[in-house]
Amino acid sequence: MRPVAPPLRTALTHALAALSRGVLLLLLILGATSLTSCRRARAVWHRHSALGRAQAAAAHRHIVRGRAHYLRYCALCHGSEGQGYAADHANALGNQDFLAIASSAFLRDAIANGRPGTTMSAWSRAHGGPLDPPVINDLVAYLRSRARRPFIDVGPRRSTGTAEAGARVWNDRCLNCHGTRGQGTGLATSVSNPVFLHAVRDGYLRHTITHGRPGTPMLAFASLGPAAIEDLIAFIRSSEHVPGPPPPPNYEPPPGLDRLIINPAGAAPAFTLREGRFVPAEQVARALEQNRKLVILDARATSDWSTNHIVGAMPFPFYSIEEMATRLPHDGTWILAYCACPHAASGHVVDELRRRNFPHTAVIDEGFPFWTAHNFPTAHAAIITTP
Ligand code: HEC
Ligand code: HEC
Repeated sequence: MRPVAPPLRTALTHALAALSRGVLLLLLILGATSLTSCRRARAVWHRHSALGRAQAAAAHRHIVRGRAHYLRYCALCHGSEGQGYAADHANALGNQDFLAIASSAFLRDAIANGRPGTTMSAWSRAHGGPLDPPVINDLVAYLRSRARRPFIDVGPRRSTGTAEAGARVWNDRCLNCHGTRGQGTGLATSVSNPVFLHAVRDGYLRHTITHGRPGTPMLAFASLGPAAIEDLIAFIRSSEHVPGPPPPPNYEPPPGLDRLIINPAGAAPAFTLREGRFVPAEQVARALEQNRKLVILDARATSDWSTNHIVGAMPFPFYSIEEMATRLPHDGTWILAYCACPHAASGHVVDELRRRNFPHTAVIDEGFPFWTAHNFPTAHAAIITTP
């Protein structure tokens, strides 16, 4: 091989050296920019994670508070873990197929406005209940936190069925549990309650009927076929009715316990208790008629007391026993409690009072629905009229 001429060799070496310097510079520049952008990215990430951490902590606090409120106000009927059916036909709020389609707005609405005509009270302060909006938000955050599956948007598609055809399927397959017009029974929730039907879209009904609520008595009815399911939705919509007076928001607030004793100058009533704890409603009505001395406590949420209560009864909600028990007479006066469940809330009140050494206590056996059905005397709170 012929050696390269010296001048040419020098030129080549120079060119190579220049090239490698260029590459080095390029690498340096690249390195520096990637280092700064990396640093910037890391700063952004830090900031975000600090924010993220703060947000997660705030959300966690909502959930913890919501859980405490849940145990105080809701577990009595819906069960401490949302398994449902602790009292009455209170549904499983922790059911995954329910949570997947129950939006936060739906939950908030159900808690605030309740289900008129059922034992699900209107819990908002606006209806005379005990809960302010932040507490309701905490409850919703807690319920939402129980969802393990992504939320399903059920979509706006309206039912294409007819109510007449739906009624036939209903009577055959649904009536036993949900009642003739979907008003609910001791076995299952209502499905035609106006507050419920205003809050849900047809897709919610379609999804529930098709997939059921596994783990509860509500089976999947996909096998009926899409046409029958559309007819059922139309039937449910056509059954909407107001089962009782919806609570107007402007009742006077519940009174204190100063007017507690009914007929303070009267003689003591003579009650014959069933199983040592239940007094028949009939005996209580008679005692009132004969002006006997007694105390009647309404164990339901205060909003229910406002709407309608046994005449002379004082609001003594099952979730506030601690504060109120100290105000009760300890002199052997009969103290009766009632609710609509018909024994869950009133039974809890009587248990708690007996634990605090009030032996002359009893549950009004058949509960408030029986009382009103028999036209025994009732009253409601005064309605505030603003001029
Ligand atoms: C005295 C019993 C009782 C208590 C206490 C109670 N509920 Fe209910 N709840 C029910 C019943 C019964 C139903 C079903 C009503 C019906 O038939 O439509 C219900 C329905 C609901 C629904 C609607 C479910 C649906 O699919 O339509 C929600 C949400 C709910 N309750 C949440 C709560 C929360 C939260 C609390 C506590 C603040 C609470 N409930 C306290 C008895 C109760
Ligand atoms: C064996 C009793 C039973 C039968 C039969 C039954 N259901 Fe249900 N259904 C239930 C129960 C219990 C629930 C509440 C389940 C829960 O805890 O979430 C329910 C819930 C529902 C809901 C949701 C209500 C709500 O508040 O979210 C709809 C809609 C419904 N059923 C429709 C139907 C239709 C339509 C049929 C007939 C094809 C039917 N069900 C048959 C027991 C039954």
